[in-house]
Amino acid sequence: MAASDPFDLFAEWFALAKKTEPDDPTACALATADPGGRPSVRMVLLKGFDRRGAVFYTNLESPKAADLQTNPRAALCFHWARLERQVRIDGRVEPVPADEADTYFATRPRLSQLGAWASRQSRPMTGRFELEQAVAGAAARFGLGAVPRPPHWSGLRVRPDVFEFWVQRPFRHHDRQRFTRQGDDWQQQWLFP
Ligand SMILES: Cc1cc2nc3c(=O)[nH]c(=O)nc-3n(C[C@H](O)[C@H](O)[C@H](O)COP(=O)(O)O)c2cc1C
Repeated sequence: MAASDPFDLFAEWFALAKKTEPDDPTACALATADPGGRPSVRMVLLKGFDRRGAVFYTNLESPKAADLQTNPRAALCFHWARLERQVRIDGRVEPVPADEADTYFATRPRLSQLGAWASRQSRPMTGRFELEQAVAGAAARFGLGAVPRPPHWSGLRVRPDVFEFWVQRPFRHHDRQRFTRQGDDWQQQWLFP
């Protein structure tokens, strides 16, 4: 029996993954492409999911953010091994509002907050000492006060246009269903495995 709403189905599977997965169920692969079409993929953590889409946080000066500046489309892939399920999401990417990012940033451990100030993500560094120096510099800068969100660090939301739900079945007779956005509705389609 096909589900009719991909957001509800994702929420149901994600809730199940949170109960069953021994590893972090929020981990997913994020694929982007540069202006020449060259793809790259890396893991991120899902920090928000609702009917607007799937949110992750990152350094806005990183290569992934640069890709998304020029080509604001991304794909996400979750694999929940214990559940034997995969979910793929494909959509347009937009920044989360500043207040949403501030609220999330405030929940992070202080050392993670300082790390966000210190890390020039994906740029070359001489060694760990350079990172530790930068963290110490940020700690000195903010003293005992609250650490504000750095301007170069925020959330990006993937607004799904396509969801695909995959369930492992014996002998590779897997179940796959794809949901494609059609205006305000979703078209469901079963796919050969
Ligand atoms: C399990 C896991 C979760 C990660 N989560 C994030 C994340 O939420 N945000 C992030 O910027 N990097 C995260 N990273 C690091 C990225 O995979 C990547 O190394 C980094 O963001 C630089 O990517 P880029 O050079 O393509 O921009 C994570 C890595 C792992 C292994």
